Amino acid sequence: MSRPRCVLAYSGGLDTSVAIRWLQEQLGYDVVTLTADLGETPDMESVTSRALATGARSAHVVNARRVFVDHFCFPTLAAGALYQNVYPLATALARPLIAKLLVDVAREEGAVAVAHGCTGKGNDQVRFDVAVGALAPELQVVAPVRDWDMGRPQEIEYARQHGVEVPVTTESPYSVDANLWGRSVECGVLEDPWAAPPPDVYAWTAAAAEAPGPVDVEITFEHGVPVALRGEALEPDALVTELNALAGAHGVGRIDHVEDRLVGIKSREVYEAPAATVLHAAHAALESLTLTRDVLRFKQRVAGEWAHLVYDGLWFGALRTALHEFVNATQEVVSGDVRIRLNRGTATISGRRAPQSLYQPQLATYDRVSDMFDHSAARGFIELFGLPLRTQTRVQGALHDAVPLQVPKVVRRRDAS
Ligand code: ARG
Repeated sequence: MSRPRCVLAYSGGLDTSVAIRWLQEQLGYDVVTLTADLGETPDMESVTSRALATGARSAHVVNARRVFVDHFCFPTLAAGALYQNVYPLATALARPLIAKLLVDVAREEGAVAVAHGCTGKGNDQVRFDVAVGALAPELQVVAPVRDWDMGRPQEIEYARQHGVEVPVTTESPYSVDANLWGRSVECGVLEDPWAAPPPDVYAWTAAAAEAPGPVDVEITFEHGVPVALRGEALEPDALVTELNALAGAHGVGRIDHVEDRLVGIKSREVYEAPAATVLHAAHAALESLTLTRDVLRFKQRVAGEWAHLVYDGLWFGALRTALHEFVNATQEVVSGDVRIRLNRGTATISGRRAPQSLYQPQLATYDRVSDMFDHSAARGFIELFGLPLRTQTRVQGALHDAVPLQVPKVVRRRDAS
């Protein structure tokens, strides 16, 4: 009798390797692995060999780089969404995509379950479980690492007993997740929020003090999507890869954050996201030129919502697709170029231009001759704009806290002689 099948999201690390055996031994599954290439798995060949050597009946690898950038990263960029105003959501964005790939392979392979290697303490377990539930409620979701009662030493022992090869690489003191959109690091000394991140936390970014001097980079957007770097048109994933290298070399994109996890705890995270940092700054600069004041203001609220629901694993929910429609509608006019200076850890906008810019020199100028702004209309505008406050004071008196403001008496006074 054939055993029920389970598709495991497989990274090639110790946890998911042990999980292959554990799913077989403890739950009686036939295990198929899925590894998503999101730009940061160095050697897919050895990952698949390892899956097969550990006992998987087949090992799938999917190059999902383009789809990741097109359908997850760039829409989130267009939304302007940063969790708690700083985290570009690299890890959070990858989860729904991997969940989708798991579901696809499960259907292809006639599997009854999917599995992932998340622990019971993080956000990622929630994201996987919720996303799989949204896409295929009929599938079981198994989380071996959450369910087994093993610490690191027991896990290594289990691996030895079950013939799972333990990677000989010296173990990183951190827990790291990386994809094209960024690198997330936690654990080890970082658990003390007062401890400065040691240099070995960083892999993509130079220390500001060691970074080379300034360089200007031009980024071109079409309808809110980055399409060219320094005038050279690039495919989305190539653009992100190149900008990661460039901005990272200049020390741009380090983020040290105490963040609120979905499961109710605060945790200290260090991120490296050079491309995402630069692109968010550049995109916002272009929007400041092309979007109306009220769209900009409302869109900030959408950005906050978007960030939260991505972080919380609700990518496949109705709210995200509805917000997506709104964001898309705003991006029609967001085309143009932005110049940004990378200099020892900073990325500073130094210029922006757009065919449909709302910035009108003849309205903005202080030059009397070319000025088209009607100064005399200001008087009437202010008369009506200030009317509610004058009415308030006349009828209700000045606000109580305006009166006792302790302002020093005139310090020095001279009268005309
Ligand atoms: N805290 C981030 C998030 O929830 C990153 C988690 C990264 N995972 C890891 N194994 N380091 O999106």
